[in-house]
Amino acid sequence: MLTIAPSILAADFSRLGEEIRDIEAAGADWIHVDIMDNHFVPNLTFGPPIVSMIRPVTKLPFDVHLMTQSPETLFPALAKAGADRLTVHPEACVHLHRTLGSIRELGLKAGVALNPHTPLSVIEYVLDMIDLVLIMTINPGFGGQAFLPEMLPKLRDLRQLLERKGRRDIRIEVDGGINAETAALVTEAGADALVAGTYIFGAPDRASAISSLRAASRL
Ligand code: DX5
Ligand code: ZN
Repeated sequence: MLTIAPSILAADFSRLGEEIRDIEAAGADWIHVDIMDNHFVPNLTFGPPIVSMIRPVTKLPFDVHLMTQSPETLFPALAKAGADRLTVHPEACVHLHRTLGSIRELGLKAGVALNPHTPLSVIEYVLDMIDLVLIMTINPGFGGQAFLPEMLPKLRDLRQLLERKGRRDIRIEVDGGINAETAALVTEAGADALVAGTYIFGAPDRASAISSLRAASRL
């Protein structure tokens, strides 16, 4: 099953509610919510109060990508605000195992995001604690960057690792530079959830942009 998760980082923030309603109507599956702290990444977005304000706007799950140092400090507020999935970067967590445990204790789905340089071995001993692996296909911090093709072998290795461990249920999500062309490449390599910001929000017809991702995907 392919999941399309538009990233609201590329939305018009002066009309955020309308933008979210618009991509729901256009066929989105999850709303990808990028939280940045200007420490872990050189950019700053928003936190739990805004997540809570946009929660009534849509029924779609909130796929929250935390690009923040010590993300666990935000978990209770994000759970209360209505987040469904929380994905963290291992480099931002002193105790990744404990951090993933706290996400599960709140009853939410847990994900690990791997930067382009971060090896897959980081997740080897926490596979039992995760529902999703997010492969960054750019360096995190900004939308509109070019897709890194060297992440394709990493996706293939991840797919093999999950198959070897009998964990085909763990979702493989990609984030950064996704469009119809790169969607074909990443899904062929094993991805089954696509984050896309610029490609969807920047399109004149967002429903066609989402359909073109589905049509290009090789699942
Ligand atoms: C960047 C974010 C992405 C970003 C992707 O750090 O994690 O979710 O919105 O933007 P595009 O799709 O424009 O590369
Ligand atoms: Zn993201």
